[in-house]
Amino acid sequence: MRLYVNVDHVATVRQARRADEPDPVEAAAICEAAGADGITVHLREDRRHIGDDDVRRLAASVRTVLNLELATAPDIVALTVALRPHQATFVPERREEITTEGGLELAAPGGPDPRLAEAIDRLRAAGIRVSLFLDPDPAVLDVAARLGADAVELHTGSYAHAFPAADRALARLAAAARHARAAGLAVHAGHGLTYRNVQPVARLADLEELNIGHSIVSRAIMVGLRRAVAEMRVQVDAARVDQPSA
Ligand code: PXP
Repeated sequence: MRLYVNVDHVATVRQARRADEPDPVEAAAICEAAGADGITVHLREDRRHIGDDDVRRLAASVRTVLNLELATAPDIVALTVALRPHQATFVPERREEITTEGGLELAAPGGPDPRLAEAIDRLRAAGIRVSLFLDPDPAVLDVAARLGADAVELHTGSYAHAFPAADRALARLAAAARHARAAGLAVHAGHGLTYRNVQPVARLADLEELNIGHSIVSRAIMVGLRRAVAEMRVQVDAARVDQPSA
């Protein structure tokens, strides 16, 4: 099972101050050194965390693979074609949402958004592996196969929300993963996965990739704070070494 780490929220902390730290590119290198199989970022239309320059720098520096999440905004599709990440994952995007709230609506009356079909073709023609972020619904997965996607990422939000009473949601994920794989799609999963709820999903045999962000960045703060404070303690104390303590 591949583990791709989403470093968006490293950029969220940076953007809280519009400063130059913490740098998601530096974070990506640490994730790779720690065993991540890939780095995921979402370039949102409102650029609320990751920016174009971050994506350019990641495309040049990531040693594993880069998975770029995007909607169908023309400038972002064009940047993706220019940078040729290993993988692009299409996600739905609404400006007012706090995070991606559901999968792409492929089974809407009238069929999928023609801009999506066009963007999938453009990216695939550029040699980029294309994944679609979808709810674990067989009807929607069939549309993804017809659109020519290489992979689907199953939205694990309902499972995460129901956990630990998540047997039904897990069974739905398992059935969807089996269905998608039988349709010739590679199957990924993500959203809301944490240290507590990840194992039942990681055991699903038809899955080959997990995308995890918020929980890892949250944990990093907790396991890193002790050292961060100690290092600042050293700086402050070194400056006062010749003075009597106040
Ligand atoms: N997969 C997709 C498609 C996402 O949009 C996100 C959130 O940006 C994730 C995975 C990661 O979700 P989380 O941050 O909850 O781990």
